Amino acid sequence: EKAGYDHFMLKEIHEQPEALRRAISGRLSIDNQEVILDELKLSSEELAGYERIYIVACGTAYHSGLVAKYLIEDLVKIPVEVDIASEFRYRDPLVSQDTLVIVVSQSGETADTLAAVREAQDKGARVLAISNVVGSTIPREADDVIYIHAGPEIAVASTKAYINMLMVFYLLAIRLAQIKESISQEKAVELIADLKNIPNQAAQIIKDSEELFKEFAGDYAEHENAFFIGRGLDYAVALEGALKLKEISYLHAASYPAGELKHGTLALIEEDVPVVALATQKSVLDKTLSNIQEVQARGASVTGVVLNKKEEVVDALDHVIEIPETEELLTSILTVIPLQLLAYYVAVEKGCDVDQPRNLAKSVTVE
Ligand code: M6R
Repeated sequence: EKAGYDHFMLKEIHEQPEALRRAISGRLSIDNQEVILDELKLSSEELAGYERIYIVACGTAYHSGLVAKYLIEDLVKIPVEVDIASEFRYRDPLVSQDTLVIVVSQSGETADTLAAVREAQDKGARVLAISNVVGSTIPREADDVIYIHAGPEIAVASTKAYINMLMVFYLLAIRLAQIKESISQEKAVELIADLKNIPNQAAQIIKDSEELFKEFAGDYAEHENAFFIGRGLDYAVALEGALKLKEISYLHAASYPAGELKHGTLALIEEDVPVVALATQKSVLDKTLSNIQEVQARGASVTGVVLNKKEEVVDALDHVIEIPETEELLTSILTVIPLQLLAYYVAVEKGCDVDQPRNLAKSVTVE
């Protein structure tokens, strides 16, 4: 059932372009004018009425919410709070009828996320679930559901579910922005056209980065620590990259907003320490590039994930992955792919049980 792949995780990484196609299938009009989310019971008027969104989830699903915060705040211009379900459920969160609460869960069975659904509903909020498993508990209890259609995910480490969660958030953010008229129709059309390209671009980046990481994952495997840095959306993706590396290859990985380094973490950077630097956000590119120089000056071995190889600093990197050109807001799906492959090949190199990492379960149905 692994279709010739050594592990389910690798199979699922390779299934991502197809999974993305399923996530957008039927949801983008042919003329690129419209996002269609027919399954929502919420009317356009109701959606337009929300002035605040709360996103609640665990683990990788929580990380998809962090990306969504940037997207929604940028496109829809309303504040988005993102919380970890096990925190949300015990802290008397400030939600009410005026808040749209979005919960995200691949399995639809995560105990803490389910408790968050009930907590939010008790406080009078309407809950929209984003989930992969049709008919699972969270979508059944939520008021609305959007399925991500990633197909069955077997490996404990989530890959295709994460990128499909992002795709659904892109769709939802554009839809909300259109309803609220917070972006021009021209901008919406551009974004929709770019979204349609993402599955092919994902296939391209799998090809490019797999070659590279097969070769040098061994360099990472020798280390005990790795750092991931980035700004804006890149920081949100860096968190997911660090989680993947910890989860399956047992390296200690930490991720930081690049501008935070000099407030403490820079003390840990010494000769040969591996740093993965994400630099796809044009608006803060110069800033990120200077942070890359700071860690290089202390001897770090830097792998860059960049939009454009032409920058000078990029020439000086130890390894570079180039992301296919797309709108700055839409890079996250592409940026995470090399990070998944890095974690995978490091785990293989170290002889770890990739699909069943120690101490972890696919679905966390107990607290
Ligand atoms: O099924 P869920 O999306 O609710 O699961 C949430 C987390 O347990 C899950 O994403 C976990 O962090 C993954 N193993 C990460 O790869």
